[in-house]
Amino acid sequence: MALKNTKKPIKIKHLCAVLLTCLGGLCAAQVNANSTPEKVSAGVRQACHAVSAETCTLAHNLGRGINFGNMLEAPREGDWGIRLDPAYINVVAEKFRTARVPVRWTNHAAPTADAKIDEFFATRVDKALDALLAKNMYVIVNTHHYSQLFGDKLHPNEYAVDPAVVEVRLVNIWRQLAQRYKGRSKNLVFELLNEPHGTLTSDAWNSLLSKLISAVREVDTTRTLIVGPTYWNHPKDLDKLQLPADPNLIVSIHSYDPFEFTHQGASWTPQFPKGVVCCSTKQQQTLASSIEAAVKWNKAKGYPLHLGEFGSLDSADMASRVAYTRMARDIFEKHGIGWTYWEFGAGFGAYDRIQLKWIEPLRRALLD
Ligand code: BGC
Repeated sequence: MALKNTKKPIKIKHLCAVLLTCLGGLCAAQVNANSTPEKVSAGVRQACHAVSAETCTLAHNLGRGINFGNMLEAPREGDWGIRLDPAYINVVAEKFRTARVPVRWTNHAAPTADAKIDEFFATRVDKALDALLAKNMYVIVNTHHYSQLFGDKLHPNEYAVDPAVVEVRLVNIWRQLAQRYKGRSKNLVFELLNEPHGTLTSDAWNSLLSKLISAVREVDTTRTLIVGPTYWNHPKDLDKLQLPADPNLIVSIHSYDPFEFTHQGASWTPQFPKGVVCCSTKQQQTLASSIEAAVKWNKAKGYPLHLGEFGSLDSADMASRVAYTRMARDIFEKHGIGWTYWEFGAGFGAYDRIQLKWIEPLRRALLD
């Protein structure tokens, strides 16, 4: 199993609504045209015995989504060659039901334990989240990239803090975010940390995540929270995840298998050369078996799953990317798992920012 490299250098180049009303485990949500996300869970429901009916419904309603990647989680917006242009919000809302908005809050907060969030930056994020919520989308906001917490090399323009305050800063950031977004729609979901890995071992993560959940719950008792396992949210670490009793949790997994295909030519994973095609039976089994393991975990534990990231870099050939994307989406949907594609318009992107249009073969593989 290939490790996801922890170093992320600057990626310059890479860089009608339908109203569904459901009762008794069936759902109530506005669905955007073209996306037909209701098909995601058609007839297939995940096990939900650990969570409330509302959170179970929300997990299924997340349906098909996309990540606003490389924008607000770059050390500074624009550092990775793309900014969150308000026009993208309409483009995405027309096709997808859910937007995942990765945000590097830790680099926009005081370096001290209190981690007071920079108001100018927070207002910038508020506008993006509110614009998406106004489109009746589900919105997942997270804390994304905090190199020191994982023992990773810092990214250019990412600042170091006293090691003694690394963890408490994250707790205090979530306390502030819980307060800030307390009055927002229930369609806003908090994802407590993207891809724990490295020096943040499973034990350390289990302990930190319970502090993060408590910090949010002191302020907001019911908002749905997303948490995922270590090893970059790979399903293989699901069994190590320990969750406090809380009826409003969804568990996130990421899927980049077959990794040597999806990450070929990535500057941060130089061990994977270009030229790998997709998808052989073996490659399909690699992906399918990790998702089947996750489904088994879901049935045993009763927390619904969300697939927060999958995608392939543009250094792979387009025919293979299309085959991979459709294969992956079909596997997730077969198990009733909603997903957010990684990502909108950078190296893994499904949208061509120069020509201002979807890369049709990828869009079709995701949505048709
Ligand atoms: C990281 C991105 C990366 C992607 C694929 C994400 O979680 O934040 O920087 O491109 O995974 O590796």
